[in-house]
Amino acid sequence: MSNVFVMDHPLIQHKIGIIRRKETGSKEFREMISEIAMLMCYEATRDLKLSDIEIETPIAKMAAKELQGKKLAIVPILRAGLGMVEGMLTMVPAAKVGHIGLYRDPETLEPVEYYCKLPEDCAERDVFVVDPMLATGGSSVAAIRLLKERGVGKIRFMCIIAAPEGMEKMQREHPDVDIYIGALDSCLNEHGYIVPGLGDAGDRIFGTK
Ligand code: PRP
Ligand code: URA
Repeated sequence: MSNVFVMDHPLIQHKIGIIRRKETGSKEFREMISEIAMLMCYEATRDLKLSDIEIETPIAKMAAKELQGKKLAIVPILRAGLGMVEGMLTMVPAAKVGHIGLYRDPETLEPVEYYCKLPEDCAERDVFVVDPMLATGGSSVAAIRLLKERGVGKIRFMCIIAAPEGMEKMQREHPDVDIYIGALDSCLNEHGYIVPGLGDAGDRIFGTK
């Protein structure tokens, strides 16, 4: 069974409170999504492996640490996942970025794939899939399936708001994928929106509604 980490850091919780408010405009919404992604990335990379190295300060030689060579990739699910990329890259600037385009059919709520461009060496990288919203789980389950078909072994999924329905589907379909969540909400409404949620993340980031 996958590990689920709900991030209870006060800064993350405070910023999630801001993006939930209906009066928060696109500019602040985008800034907050990016900052939350940065803070979540900081928390979710706690288990990255370190090596011992010897360095020299201006004063003396010392044993220090550096990140081991294992390379990372960030894969946002378009569109809303794009809002999380910059914050992640602030923390892990050497990561490569792939893109998976999926939208939810508004009637069936099934994901429809329209784009996929991944780093050439994706299969050798640890991949963080990012999307602010995990609702039915259809989009994230499909995106991760696509990555596995391309040989990616180690995958983590990071979202800002999740519904229990989506979290359970992810755990069922991809029990090997650890899930990092900013807040776990109550349920989905009849249109597949997270309650209380924050509305449509893509529309709020890009101002399309
Ligand atoms: C939203 C969101 C997720 C998906 C979550 O994207 O960003 O990708 O819905 O819902 P699910 O868990 O039920 O699949 P949407 O389909 O609205 O596309 P957009 O980002 O292009 O607006
Ligand atoms: N996608 C969103 O953007 N918001 C939801 O609440 C559910 C899916």
